[in-house]
Amino acid sequence: MQTTLIILKPDAVQRGLMGRILSRFEDKGLQIVGCKMIQIPQEMAERHYSDHKGKPFYDGLVSFMTSSPVLVLAIRGVGAIAICRKMMGATFGSNAEGGTIRGDFGVSNSFNLIHGSDSPEAASKEMELFFGAGEVLDWERAGEKWVYDLSGDEPE
Ligand code: RTP
Ligand code: MG
Repeated sequence: MQTTLIILKPDAVQRGLMGRILSRFEDKGLQIVGCKMIQIPQEMAERHYSDHKGKPFYDGLVSFMTSSPVLVLAIRGVGAIAICRKMMGATFGSNAEGGTIRGDFGVSNSFNLIHGSDSPEAASKEMELFFGAGEVLDWERAGEKWVYDLSGDEPE
């Protein structure tokens, strides 16, 4: 099981797309184990996107991410990191495939609705940055045995 950090960015919140985007992850069979609305402080945004520091879009990206509230999600499942990245689609809606979140809900070459961790290392770093102690809940889903085949050692 992996837990990945997803952020519904300010444009997703402002455009009233939170519910529809969240539903896609639930519909897929992924489990929401953390969910909170925050306005990202400057320092947290800078830390989150520190790999992009120095790139021409960095300042604009940090100011966009801090401009309005976001919905921060912890999403769990087998292979959740790659599954969520696939569901998000290519970086910008202008060239993301139909059927993906960015492809279906956005056209911009700057605003792109959603962030998702891109590796296990990034996921654990980002989970620690955005969620405090007790904010991720290890709750048991009633229908888990119909989402995964639980007859073996690992959920499949
Ligand atoms: P994210 O990190 O937000 O999940 O997006 P990503 O992996 O698809 O894209 P990444 O290359 O990591 O870029 C991070 C964010 O920076 C903004 N960006 N702007 N103007 C540009 O050329 C440009 N390139 C990237 C986007 O908001 C992107 O999500
Ligand atoms: Mg990225």
